[in-house]
Amino acid sequence: MKKAGRISEANATLLPATSRKPAFAGLGHTRWATHGGVTDENAHPHLDCTGQIAVVHNGIIENWSELKKDLLARGHKFKSETDTEVAAHLIEEAITNKQLTINNFAEAVRKVFNQLEGLNAIVVYSPQLRAIIAFRNGSPLVVGVGEEEHYVASDIPAFLPYTRKVSFLEDGEGVILSNARDQKSDIRIVEAKTGKTKPPKVEEITWSAGEAELGEHPHYLIKEISEQPEILARLAQYSESDIKEVAKLIKGSFGTYFTACGTAAHSGLAATYLFSDLAKRHVNFAVGSEFYFLESFLVPKSLLIAASQSGETMDTLEAVRAAKKHRSKVVALTNVEGSSLTRLADKTLLLNCGPEKAVLATKSYTAKLALFLLLAAQMGGDLDAGRKLVKRSAKAVGELLNGGQIEKLTKRLRDSEHIYIIGRGVNYATALEAALKIKEVSYIHAEGFAGGELKHGVIALIEEGTPCLVFVANDHARSSALSNAKEIKSRGGFVIGVSPREDEVFDEWIKVPDVGEASAIVNVVPAQLLAYHLAVERGLDPDKPRNLAKSVTVK
Ligand code: F6R
Repeated sequence: MKKAGRISEANATLLPATSRKPAFAGLGHTRWATHGGVTDENAHPHLDCTGQIAVVHNGIIENWSELKKDLLARGHKFKSETDTEVAAHLIEEAITNKQLTINNFAEAVRKVFNQLEGLNAIVVYSPQLRAIIAFRNGSPLVVGVGEEEHYVASDIPAFLPYTRKVSFLEDGEGVILSNARDQKSDIRIVEAKTGKTKPPKVEEITWSAGEAELGEHPHYLIKEISEQPEILARLAQYSESDIKEVAKLIKGSFGTYFTACGTAAHSGLAATYLFSDLAKRHVNFAVGSEFYFLESFLVPKSLLIAASQSGETMDTLEAVRAAKKHRSKVVALTNVEGSSLTRLADKTLLLNCGPEKAVLATKSYTAKLALFLLLAAQMGGDLDAGRKLVKRSAKAVGELLNGGQIEKLTKRLRDSEHIYIIGRGVNYATALEAALKIKEVSYIHAEGFAGGELKHGVIALIEEGTPCLVFVANDHARSSALSNAKEIKSRGGFVIGVSPREDEVFDEWIKVPDVGEASAIVNVVPAQLLAYHLAVERGLDPDKPRNLAKSVTVK
């Protein structure tokens, strides 16, 4: 019996307490629907006709419909609309007439995995054998090595409370986790192409279990927002040699491109302004999902800088693969040691902000901004000035976290249908990021714009009382941003100014400390807090917004 819903609710909803038994293995999966709706039937795991092979899967099996047609013709019965289910039935066929041993089972899974086209990871469980076999190609999988138990997951935080010892699987590799009654617990790495096995290479990661726990906070989102001052203070001391090495790569490149998705993309957009302001250097930016359509610009001397908290976002990885195809160099900014991105990149700068568990990216965003600022400062010849700015922003974020103004504003905005947000210069990126934070967690429609774009159409949406957030930094974009605020006000909009300086145009003023060129780091924090409080106020779960996954590992 299975049900669509949260993994954490599985015990409570599926089995009456009397039928719960201690289990030998558990298989959980958060599905991001690609084939078929969010229904009980389409929930993972998927079983074969005998009910003895259970499969969870991440990715898209591109040749699933041909495979399914053939399986149906051979008499298999399907229960779901998913692409995943074909894998269970194919494994069933591959094992039929073979003695049921772990080696035969692993071999059947390997052969089937090689038949699946596309970028996929599968985890297959046989209760009879007490074995789990998993393979990856393009989708993440990492093995957690415990004392008497082992884990396989798409990212480390899934098992961080239990072990810090990990073995990273490469693309085209798999793992056999077995604990047959007559055998000692065992891990073997398998090559998907040849079936050759080897022992795992086990590494210890630097994150601690405590970092992935809630502690005194009610939600991960607010915990992670609150960690930013400490993270920024640490980043201000970032290794000089690493910053210099990447700055040298940028200097020596023939065209530098930034790419990333979602929140990370907003940090990339902000970076183009930081490089213009601090380094007087032109850099290009495109979101990951569009970057690979621009790849014809790339040459071996191009440099791609890919930013990704998880290091597993498929669109970002595909952009990196496009760059590698042209033999361009790749620098990664990521939070996850050993992630696919670090494996593809020539050089990695780690964000060092600890596991980010809330679906919304917050601390990883400001960490990326801080690193981009340090790189731009180094390129401009004054790394120390950059360090000072990051340090000042750490202190400023700390001050903002202690104010209570956002809770009051939340009450005013909680029933809004729309919120419009504008910024200029580097805070154009802040406007986009603020809108993303608000909409994804509170489900209030929020749109971010470059202030100058208002007059090109958006202003038609402003009515009496429409709430508009306006980012007005104390920089060369200040007067333009204030003019835009006036345009909103004269159409009846309710102007909430986020600024170090008060202005008569603001109906409400959120005072933020003045941190010069680091304004994007500080300005986003009131928006993060607003998004969090709006979700709480509207009775929503701030850590797990609907329809979203922490890492988007499909294209
Ligand atoms: C928004 C959010 C997403 C991610 C995006 C990229 O709060 O979390 O937009 O930023 O999916 O993820 P990473 O940084 O892991 O590549």
